[in-house]
Amino acid sequence: MAHGTHEPTPQKTDSWSASLDPETAARSSLSEVDWGFPDRRSHSEIEGVHPYPAKFIAEIPRALINCLPLPPHSGVLDPFCGSGSSLVESQRLGIPAVGVDLNPIACLMSRVKTSACPTDIEQLAARIVASSETASDGEIPEIPNLDHWFQPNVQVEINKIARSIATSPSEARDALKLALSSIIVRVSNQESDTRYAAVQKDIDPSAVPTLFLRAVNRINAALQNRPYPLTSVDVIENDILKVEPSMIGRPIGLVVTSPPYPNAYEYWLYHKYRMWWLGYDPLKVKADEIGARAHFFKKNHHTAEDFARQMRQTLKLLGNVLVKGGFASFVVGRSKIHGKIYDNSEIITDEAAPLGFTPFFVTERELSANRKSFNLSHANIKTETVLVLRKEVE
Ligand SMILES: C[S@@+](CC[C@H](N)C(=O)[O-])C[C@H]1O[C@@H](n2cnc3c(N)ncnc32)[C@H](O)[C@@H]1O
Repeated sequence: MAHGTHEPTPQKTDSWSASLDPETAARSSLSEVDWGFPDRRSHSEIEGVHPYPAKFIAEIPRALINCLPLPPHSGVLDPFCGSGSSLVESQRLGIPAVGVDLNPIACLMSRVKTSACPTDIEQLAARIVASSETASDGEIPEIPNLDHWFQPNVQVEINKIARSIATSPSEARDALKLALSSIIVRVSNQESDTRYAAVQKDIDPSAVPTLFLRAVNRINAALQNRPYPLTSVDVIENDILKVEPSMIGRPIGLVVTSPPYPNAYEYWLYHKYRMWWLGYDPLKVKADEIGARAHFFKKNHHTAEDFARQMRQTLKLLGNVLVKGGFASFVVGRSKIHGKIYDNSEIITDEAAPLGFTPFFVTERELSANRKSFNLSHANIKTETVLVLRKEVE
């Protein structure tokens, strides 16, 4: 293991693999992992601070980081970092990391989960709630179809808290926004996080401040209970296709990612009203989101070739920032586009070859039944591929 602060894995202490050269040892460690992680019982506090569709279970990035050697002074990059699972695992293992995502809720989660816990956040949240009790109703922001998704009295309560957060001390603002974001679906008319349908719920508007305070307590506890120092993590909120190598800001020894792929999950839709309430623009996210279903059901719709082009461009960036001999790992499933099944790991492998990446390790993992979203029923995503490519040494 090249990186001084890596945690040893059982494989690493095995005397047989310890006697192998680093490449053979890495391959041997990767093949010894049970990628279904049958021993996982529940998520950790930090994984549970906010929902996110199709997120890694922590064990996946942890295994990849532990099994693959990382040159000294290099970091981990996740170009589609989502809720920040690989960033948290890198940080937990003492390795600096960089994450990119165009979704502002993803970036909010990634930042909060890898930053210091804001001081006195619970007292701050209590003051926000107390002041909202006496605040005027205020003007509700222009949000499409708001009355369909939120009771008018609930809108007033959310708006008061959102306005108060906007003027709170900057070091606490992200964590407070994340707390509010985490309760939005619960206080909306949306049936559940995974069912995008409006139902009558008769919500007591006092649930908004109560759930907000509870969310702040949960986030505060998760951040306080991290038993490791906070190694540097940078989160870049941008479309990966617009990111230049210089923006990554450090040499990368390992890429750990799960890319979006055609016609599977819709991250922008999942977080649409969270974004509206926090002042972000979900329609901009929808326009640039790779794989969003909306791009596959319009005139001149996207095809698998569009996905190949997007991956080619992403892989070019990865090739530019990865040190020679560095590894790029992808966890990716299949897509169904207009009735035809595409193997996205094959698309990535083919696009990566001319850029000097060679296949290093590949295996299939079962997708657990609890990893589903409200739009998956049409697609055949029962297993996914763990693919590790290596950037050629010469
Ligand atoms: C499979 S999810 C990643 C989940 C992540 N591994 C986790 O554990 O939370 C794919 C991510 O790609 C992001 N994404 C989609 N299109 C993008 C683009 N053009 N630029 C950057 N990120 C994008 C989505 O917002 C989503 O968060």
